[in-house]
Amino acid sequence: MNSELNLYFDNAATSWPKPEPVYGAAERCLRGSWGNPGRSGHTRTLEADRLVYRARETLARFFHIADPGRIVFALNATDALNMAIKGLLEAGDHVLYTAMDHNSVLRPLGGLRRAGLISTTMIPCSPEGYPDLDFMERSFQRRTRLLVINHASNVLGTILPLKEMATAAHRHGVAVLVDASQSAGAVPVDLAAAPVDMLAFTGHKGLLGPPGTGGLYVRPGLDLKPWREGGTGSHSEMDLHPETMPERLEAGTLNSPGLAGLIEGIKFIEETGLDKIRAHEVTLRKRLRRKLEEIKGVTVYGPADDDRCTAVLSFTLEGVDCGELGYILESSFGIICRTGLHCAPLAHQAAGTFPQGTVRLSPGYFTSDKDVDYLAGAVAEISAFTRAR
Ligand SMILES: Cc1ncc(COP(=O)(O)O)c(C=O)c1O
Repeated sequence: MNSELNLYFDNAATSWPKPEPVYGAAERCLRGSWGNPGRSGHTRTLEADRLVYRARETLARFFHIADPGRIVFALNATDALNMAIKGLLEAGDHVLYTAMDHNSVLRPLGGLRRAGLISTTMIPCSPEGYPDLDFMERSFQRRTRLLVINHASNVLGTILPLKEMATAAHRHGVAVLVDASQSAGAVPVDLAAAPVDMLAFTGHKGLLGPPGTGGLYVRPGLDLKPWREGGTGSHSEMDLHPETMPERLEAGTLNSPGLAGLIEGIKFIEETGLDKIRAHEVTLRKRLRRKLEEIKGVTVYGPADDDRCTAVLSFTLEGVDCGELGYILESSFGIICRTGLHCAPLAHQAAGTFPQGTVRLSPGYFTSDKDVDYLAGAVAEISAFTRAR
């Protein structure tokens, strides 16, 4: 037992530690008295402007987006998903989404549905998290405007067939919104290979940047109603929000220190190699699953094929409430993980773990085999103790 350990298995919530240059870049930006990007012509503002543009360029390169000006910064993925959903949909529209979606999709859709503005259909998923594609094909309607795809489940680690689903939607003339919260930085997200209409990302998970960063890619030709209006530093004479992108969907002061850190997080991924990061994380998931499955009373959820998953693994231990298990792991062993429904109740219904939830383990690039072995040892100890009770 080592309650002081602080062994971090919650990278799906927010990644930690960050690569060293992330801390340095954010601090330099804060200390350096940089100006407010886009707000003036003095040297400090121009420096901040260049930083923001570099962030757009870095993201465009990373996601294979041709025009960096189509990337709009947001507070996080939730903000970007709201921007997409509320900016696109009109009264009478129909929306398809899957059981793997997060509350940051389910709640905006639920609010619009309850207000009588839209109708929705949920595409059911198997217990492993794979969507029923035949059901999806049958569910496109004349008024279907949008298909939302969670690229990777934050509960089961399942990677959804993005290209196949997006192609089907486009065949029906339906726009595609991808939630890349769990996939960006974990698996390749290549919009040149799998074109989509909108992609929401968050900076503080797999992209290894600071919280308060994220954004939305909107494909050329697609116009969204602004989600917030206000100061942009441009067209100040107008009392209407500008129509030019990215200002159309951005208002207020941007998080320059956060973006400075995000650039470094992405640079770290590019320099290390996404393949190398992915290979390490898949190896960790395999080891985790194999070791947990050997423990009496443990049930592991999600796909058994780790090569088709991100490094997210959910499990339960017979006879122990998952909240209690998370508490014991932290207080007695110094292991940090997340328990409960993970803001994705439908994913738990699909997996058969609703309403009690699971213990979710999400190692990251900085997690070692030794960390996994220690965690498995801790669960084995708790299992043995529970059985002896
Ligand atoms: C699949 C998924 N979508 C959306 C979000 C929301 O991300 P954020 O908290 O950065 O807004 C999360 C975060 O846990 C997620 O896992």
